[in-house]
Amino acid sequence: MSRDPQLGVYIHWPWCLSKCPYCDFNSQAIDPKDIDQEGWRKSLLAELAHCLGATDRARIGSVFFGGGTPSLIDPASIAAILELLSKHRPISKQLEVTLEANPGTIDAKRLDHFRQAGVNRVSLGMQALDDQALKQLGRSHDTKAALKALDLIRKRFERVSIDLIYGRPGQSLNSWQDELTKALGLGLDHYSLYQLTYESSTPLGRAALEGRIKPLDGDSEADFFAMTQDQMGAAIRCAYEISNYASKSAYCRHNLDIWRGGTYLGVGPGAHGREPRDGQIHATERLADPLAWAKQVAAKGHGYKTCEPLLPGERAQELILLGLRLTEGIDRARFARQSGFDLAEVINPLAVQRMAADGYIQQDCTSLRTTPQGRQLLDSVVRILLSESL
Ligand SMILES: C[S@@+](CC[C@H](N)C(=O)[O-])C[C@H]1O[C@@H](n2cnc3c(N)ncnc32)[C@H](O)[C@@H]1O
Ligand code: SF4
Repeated sequence: MSRDPQLGVYIHWPWCLSKCPYCDFNSQAIDPKDIDQEGWRKSLLAELAHCLGATDRARIGSVFFGGGTPSLIDPASIAAILELLSKHRPISKQLEVTLEANPGTIDAKRLDHFRQAGVNRVSLGMQALDDQALKQLGRSHDTKAALKALDLIRKRFERVSIDLIYGRPGQSLNSWQDELTKALGLGLDHYSLYQLTYESSTPLGRAALEGRIKPLDGDSEADFFAMTQDQMGAAIRCAYEISNYASKSAYCRHNLDIWRGGTYLGVGPGAHGREPRDGQIHATERLADPLAWAKQVAAKGHGYKTCEPLLPGERAQELILLGLRLTEGIDRARFARQSGFDLAEVINPLAVQRMAADGYIQQDCTSLRTTPQGRQLLDSVVRILLSESL
């Protein structure tokens, strides 16, 4: 008997307590009292039901509540979403249900309710373990509050990760090393460590463009990245993706599946998906504006902005871009199954040879992968590999 293919579900929650000056995610500040929780539950359930009705049968392997700040969601909505999924699709016995959480939005009671609702993995946005840095990042919590939130989470959940941002303006390599030592001292088995990016649509990005703050130069960025790899590797929390470090049993299954080219539904304002429909993968995007999205869901049952089948060449390029984020790289046999192409047909072997000689990629008969130097410069590596394609 053949097993159903696996499917992930991403649910986007657009609301936050405040908008951080570096963030260009589809998120907006709101007073939690003003969130119409019942209205949001209805809209998310309606869109999810519509999506399940339109997509191929598959077993649900993971659900990821991302944002925004999904720890502001009513836990009853999470329970209702999981119940709807279990009515319409088989559910994996190892179902992973991740909730992104912010310090300041959770207490013991809410965490208990999230757990009862079915959440079994929490990713906490700590961002820094230094009060000065938290101020610089415009965060509404200090280190003490973040550590307290982490403690409450760890008492209730086995699978816990934290997010930290490094390479901040004025940050020294030594201070980041100290912060990482503190982070590792917490003894978690998963860490998401993001190098600060200056998005032009954000106040921090504009400050950098206008010369009001000075980002790190390229060499320093490379030093921060290399030091992070080394220190995390020495603590057996190796990088399994550009920004994600974990012991093997703690990898985020939802994200790993996406990086390996898995399909997933993307529900909620601005969510992207790769939906299987009639045996073909469709690239989907929902309307980003929360109110416009909710209005369209009420009128049509869905908030699609676009829903288009992916062309074979597009799919192949996307699999390369995703796979090279991973330390394990692109599995050649999986790539051929998923795209219908041999990897060597899509990437010019001469470009591969040159990048391998320069120390950016490695290959053998089973996979093609980036080295840490290659991952640090991933956009350029992928551009060269694909621009020189046959
Ligand atoms: C969608 S946010 C959700 C987490 C949660 N709302 C919070 O901020 O605590 C996911 C993560 O992306 C990272 N992030 C957002 N903007 C970033 C930027 N410009 N540079 C680096 N990391 C960023 C942060 O670490 C953040 O925790
Ligand atoms: S970083 Fe997190 S809390 Fe801050 S605005 Fe972005 S999504 Fe919201």
